[in-house]
Amino acid sequence: MLQVNDLSAGYGDIIAVREFSFSVEAGKIHALVGANGAGKSSTLMCLMGLVEQKSGSIVMDNLQISNERIEKRISAGLAIVPEGRRIFPDLNVRENLMVGGHIVSTSIMNSGIDMVYEFFPRLYERQTQAAGSLSGGEQQMLAMGRALISRPKILIVDELSLGLMPKVVDECYEVLKKLKSESIGILLVEQNTERAFSVADDVSALEAGNLFWSGTAEQARTNISLKEQLMGIT
Ligand SMILES: Nc1ncnc2c1ncn2[C@@H]1O[C@H](COP(=O)(O)OP(=O)(O)OP(=O)(O)O)[C@@H](O)[C@H]1O
Ligand SMILES: [Mg+2]
Repeated sequence: MLQVNDLSAGYGDIIAVREFSFSVEAGKIHALVGANGAGKSSTLMCLMGLVEQKSGSIVMDNLQISNERIEKRISAGLAIVPEGRRIFPDLNVRENLMVGGHIVSTSIMNSGIDMVYEFFPRLYERQTQAAGSLSGGEQQMLAMGRALISRPKILIVDELSLGLMPKVVDECYEVLKKLKSESIGILLVEQNTERAFSVADDVSALEAGNLFWSGTAEQARTNISLKEQLMGIT
């Protein structure tokens, strides 16, 4: 569904990721792992048109979106839960969700908000509360909810579990599993590689902007040298 070929992206003269190819299928979770600075976030942000693409192609359902604005990419079926959540602290929960629905019709937005409240009842309870006063876990739920309002075919998630308590992490992963069962494809960046490998179908590992390993999650789970490399042991 999402096909990325030879993607290079960066900032001016800095190349953050080089000639990276991968795909995300409907109903599959593709984990993107690697050390700090490996180029994971740059890759995700480039898919959304928020970091400069230097070369390569990004194709969503046979539609080339490489040079499109973010709104067009959202219409094509992409949505992102960015690193650090990036919620609007002064807006309330419902208003933050409405930001995620600004390109869709009011009826789709309203049904999307209802769907998000079903996924995350806690957001419903807090819908008039300022988002900045939510706990870290609730803010991550809000960031996920906001991304789901536009009914993405592919959900891009940067650092799902960072800074969250285990129970909240479990809740967020339950949502990923539910989305997967609804044939949504997920591109997941996760510090906790064990956790990522346990839910993923496919894995790509980056090091200093280069793909150094790719394969199935099953292969990744049993690959000790890959794990050592990811932990910086080798
Ligand atoms: N705004 C920016 N301007 C210049 N260089 C940047 C910018 N953002 C990131 N970089 C550089 O791009 C490279 C990749 O960074 P990126 O944030 O994509 O890594 P990452 O894999 O997401 O790391 P982390 O695990 O720490 O989030 C790094 O060398 C980083 O310094
Ligand atoms: Mg990052």
